[in-house]
Amino acid sequence: MTDRYILVTGGAGYIGSHTVIELINNGYKVVIVDNLSNSSYDAVARIEFIVNQHVPFYDIDLRNGDELDKVFKKYDIHGVIHFAALKAVGESTKIPLKYYENNVGGTMSLLEVCSANDVKTIVFSSSATVYGDVTRFGPTKYIPIPETCPTDPTNPYGKTKFVIEQILKDIHTSDNAWQVAILRYFNPIGAHPSGLLGEDPLGIPNNLLPYLAQVAIGRRETLSIFGDDYDSTDGTPIRDYIHVVDLAKGHIAALNYLKKLNDKGLYREWNLGTGKGSTVFQVYKAFCKAVGRELPYKVVGRRQGDVLNLTAKPDRAQQELQWKAELTVEDACRDLWRWTTENPFGFELQDYKWQEFDGLQNRLHTVQNKDLQVTFCNRGALIQDIKVGEQHIVCGFDNAKEYTLETNPYFGTTVGRYANRIKNGEFEIDGTKFQLTQNDGSNTLHAGNNGFDKQNFFGPVVKQKNGKFTLEFKVVDADGTDGFPGTLEAIVKYTIDSLSIEIEYEAKSLDDKPTVVNLTNHSYFNLSGNGTIDGTHIKSSVDQLLELDGAKLPTGNIISKTIPSTISPEVILDDCFVVDKDANAIDTRSKALQTLVEATHPDSNVKIVVSSTEPAFQFYTGDGVNCSQFGKRSGFCVEPSRFVDAVHSDNHKGQAVLKKGDVYGAKIKYEFR
Ligand code: NAD
Ligand code: WQD
Repeated sequence: MTDRYILVTGGAGYIGSHTVIELINNGYKVVIVDNLSNSSYDAVARIEFIVNQHVPFYDIDLRNGDELDKVFKKYDIHGVIHFAALKAVGESTKIPLKYYENNVGGTMSLLEVCSANDVKTIVFSSSATVYGDVTRFGPTKYIPIPETCPTDPTNPYGKTKFVIEQILKDIHTSDNAWQVAILRYFNPIGAHPSGLLGEDPLGIPNNLLPYLAQVAIGRRETLSIFGDDYDSTDGTPIRDYIHVVDLAKGHIAALNYLKKLNDKGLYREWNLGTGKGSTVFQVYKAFCKAVGRELPYKVVGRRQGDVLNLTAKPDRAQQELQWKAELTVEDACRDLWRWTTENPFGFELQDYKWQEFDGLQNRLHTVQNKDLQVTFCNRGALIQDIKVGEQHIVCGFDNAKEYTLETNPYFGTTVGRYANRIKNGEFEIDGTKFQLTQNDGSNTLHAGNNGFDKQNFFGPVVKQKNGKFTLEFKVVDADGTDGFPGTLEAIVKYTIDSLSIEIEYEAKSLDDKPTVVNLTNHSYFNLSGNGTIDGTHIKSSVDQLLELDGAKLPTGNIISKTIPSTISPEVILDDCFVVDKDANAIDTRSKALQTLVEATHPDSNVKIVVSSTEPAFQFYTGDGVNCSQFGKRSGFCVEPSRFVDAVHSDNHKGQAVLKKGDVYGAKIKYEFR
């Protein structure tokens, strides 16, 4: 596929985000510009989670031509899909200037930058609203509405769309190398079938289905139906509701059409609708069916500006763009309900915030659940901070750069695809030998030079339900990374309750090649608050460990030992304690969580309890730590995992070898009391 990019303005918004996914699914490269005035960065994080790729994103207002120009200089942009606009009809009648300024002003700025960079391909989000009240020509002449229907928008929002169409037409007339596709959308509805993306209106929703969804989820009481005295079968107005995924696909069809023209210019309008009208009552019933119960409504007077019928004649798009809506109102209602139940407050989560950590693609995500505040970074899906009450209890850097330095002792990170050591950096599966990067003498430690700790995970998908937060991060580790076979997808899911963090790991091969997996979290706990773990009290009933040799590899013996009850300076540990010596399963998630270690400190108000479903855990007193903000023994680690070097143990291989079709799984829990 081409190396050239499509710039998507407004790509974090409702229709834009769905279109970005379709673009990427169709092999396009995308860069998003959005000022997040009506959207959230979380939509971009979720796009990446769905498409398994990083998508460059710039928080820029289109009216800032200088910043926009930098994006055009940085990426080889082939064309633009221009969604960015304000879109609330009612609001536009109250603050028309703001609408002209943002929509028309933003477009003029965009077009200037396009011209300056010789980008002359644009797909523009127009609207059926440009046609105005088509019944002015009589009840049937222009219903369904063809593109040739005269335009006459009746509100400032619609007029901005009309003016922009005219500007684009004039530009094409002045220079007919321009390729301009005007897409006039009818009523977009629904959500992404993954349940991860959908419409997230600010304040009281203006549109029918977003309002109804909020009634269904309990955020609003009753739907008001604006009039049942129209000349339709049930008295309510008729609209052409189109699933947002179908609509998104229409943009790919338009781009492909323009591409086929080679360098020939064009200005042309296409309606994107289904051609089938539905009344308000019909849509109401379809949504009630998806929800599984009757939703409260009352019929009130007509809404000013509403018209009887806006149904598209979509023949031109079908014939020329080879595009046709495939999904039904029922499909849209089902997907909308899934999105609503999974995300009752859309992207607006209370007590969740994110901030830039290192510019592009590195962010900190903080959730606060009562007394517990946890901060994550997408690099390594790491835990940067855990704060219980006022006490910080893990080591973490306050700047992103430190995480990238050699001196970083894996603070808070996800270790993978293979935690701990692999002897001589080699192993065999089904008779095939694999050689890994040797980064620990002749051995491989924590997966070599490009382990999960060095990778920026996709996401997080942040949700808040039943008093808990969940954050899901995903990484796709390419076949051959540091010599590991198979493309491995790993999901790290954190669940943050008011006094606990649960971590769930799930990994599977995306190309059916067997590989090896061992995942854990490398948090360094410190309860003393004074930079050393000495004086920490430990309670652990685990009393066996793998005997390790000088290279910290197992000798094959299991010996008796417990962690001393007080960590004094003489207690130096980097040992693998055994919870279940017979364990041989690749997915331990169905096992009960077993307590591994309880830790307290006389100076601490917090007690930590670590439990897991795993057969072993490494206990490390942090004697190798030596970095700018933290020294030796500034934190201790409890890393639940598989046996060290399990891949070389005939009895324990099954813990770590991921065979074709298998799924790796594990759980860890940190409780704070
Ligand atoms: P949306 O509000 O979800 O998306 C628009 C995005 O543009 C938002 O993310 C917003 O933050 C961004 N934006 C706005 N002004 C900007 C600026 N000056 N600079 C940078 N970013 C800016 O809306 P949507 O429903 O996805 O609509 C997308 C486009 O489709 C809009 O142009 C809208 O007018 C048009 N449209 C929408 C509908 C509909 O019913 N949703 C119907 C017809 C046409
Ligand atoms: C649909 C039907 C209402 C809400 C708007 C814009 C249009 C385009 C799409 C951007 C109507 C009825 C609604 C409610 C109701 N957007 N309704 N109770 O007005 O067709 O189109 O969105 O370009 O330009 O005007 O969509 O969803 O608001 O209304 O009875 O609470 O639902 O009367 O018949 P509309 P809508």
